[in-house]
Amino acid sequence: MNTPILHIQNLHKHFGKVHAVNDLSLEVLPGQVFGILGPNGSGKTTTLGIILDVIKKKSGEYRWFGEPPSAESRKKIGAILETPVFYPYLSAVDNLKIVALIKGVDESRIDSVLKTVDLHERKFDAFKTYSLGMKQRLAIASALLADPEVMILDEPTNGLDPQGIAEIRQLIIQIAQQGKTIILASHLLDEVQKVCSHFAVLKKGKLIYSGSVDEALTGTDTVEIAADDMDLLEETIKQFAYTQSVRPEKQFLRVRLKNNQSSIDLNRFLVEQGIVVSHLSQRTNSLEQQFLQILAADSSSATSGNHSFIDQKTTTHA
Ligand SMILES: Nc1ncnc2c1ncn2[C@@H]1O[C@H](COP(=O)(O)OP(=O)(O)OP(=O)(O)O)[C@@H](O)[C@H]1O
Ligand SMILES: [Mg+2]
Repeated sequence: MNTPILHIQNLHKHFGKVHAVNDLSLEVLPGQVFGILGPNGSGKTTTLGIILDVIKKKSGEYRWFGEPPSAESRKKIGAILETPVFYPYLSAVDNLKIVALIKGVDESRIDSVLKTVDLHERKFDAFKTYSLGMKQRLAIASALLADPEVMILDEPTNGLDPQGIAEIRQLIIQIAQQGKTIILASHLLDEVQKVCSHFAVLKKGKLIYSGSVDEALTGTDTVEIAADDMDLLEETIKQFAYTQSVRPEKQFLRVRLKNNQSSIDLNRFLVEQGIVVSHLSQRTNSLEQQFLQILAADSSSATSGNHSFIDQKTTTHA
C-alpha cells in the first residue's frame, strides 16, 4: 500500500481572532509535487510551520510517513520556510560546511548538491556576491544536504526576476525527478500549473479544493457525448479530424477536441456519418477562472462553501 508521505487531519490554528487554519485535511502521496495554493493570509505558511513543528497547532493531527511526528521523521524532511541565514563573507562551500556540521551530515555531499543547484562554478565566491536567485538556490542546496525524502518550500520564487523564477522552477522539477516528494506553498496559479502534479487551494484557512493539476487546470474544454450504439460512436469520433482523445466514462464518452473546436462541429460530423446522439454537453473548465478570482480577491468573500465552488459550468447543445 502507498503510505502517504503526509497526512493532515482536521487541523486548526488560531492567532487571536484569526482562524488561520480551519479544519484542514489533506494527503500528500510519495512522488507528488504538491502545491498549497492560496492568496496572502490564507494559512499556507502557518500550515507548513505546524507540520514542521515550529508552530503549535490548536487541534487536529498530522502524520509523516504514516507515523506521529518525531525527531526521526523530521530528519527525512528538508525545508526552506524563510530565506535561511548564511554568513555573507563566507563562500557557498564554507556556509554548507557549517550546515553539515549542524545537521550532522557528511561534508562529502556538498559538491554534489552544489552541482544540483548549478552553483558549482561559484562555490568559492562569498555569499554576499550572489544574486537573489543564487541565494535561493544555495538555500535549496542546504535543504538537500541531508538527502531528505521530502522537500518543503514556501514561496520559492518570491522576489526573483523572470530568469531566476524559471531556474528555480526547473530545479524543483529536477529534484522531483530524482524521486523526492515536494510540498510547496505558492500564491501563483501559474507556478502550481508549471511545477506541481497535485494541489490544494486554501482560502482563509479553509480547504476549498484539492486534486490533480492535470484534471483541474488543463485549460481545454471537453465534450460529454452518448448515443444508442456507444461502440460505433467511439469509432466514429476517432475518425473526426479534430478529436484529440476519447475516454469512456460511466454513461458517456468524454471527448477532448483539438484547438478548442466546438462540440457543434463534432455533432455535425456525426450527423453526416448517420449517428444521432442522445446526449451532448460541453464542459467548460471554469475551475481555473475561479481560482484566479480567488487568488485576486484576497480578503473579499467572493465564493461560498465547498462544493458549489467546484461545480463546473455546463452548457447543453443537444
Ligand atoms: N505570528 C502570527 N501572529 C498573528 N497572526 C498571524 C501570525 N502568523 C500568521 N498570522 C495570521 O494568520 C493568517 C494566515 O497567515 P499565513 O502567513 O499562514 O498566510 P499565507 O497563506 O502564508 O500568506 P502569504 O501568501 O502572505 O505568505 C493571516 O491572517 C495572518 O495575519
Ligand atoms: Mg506565507
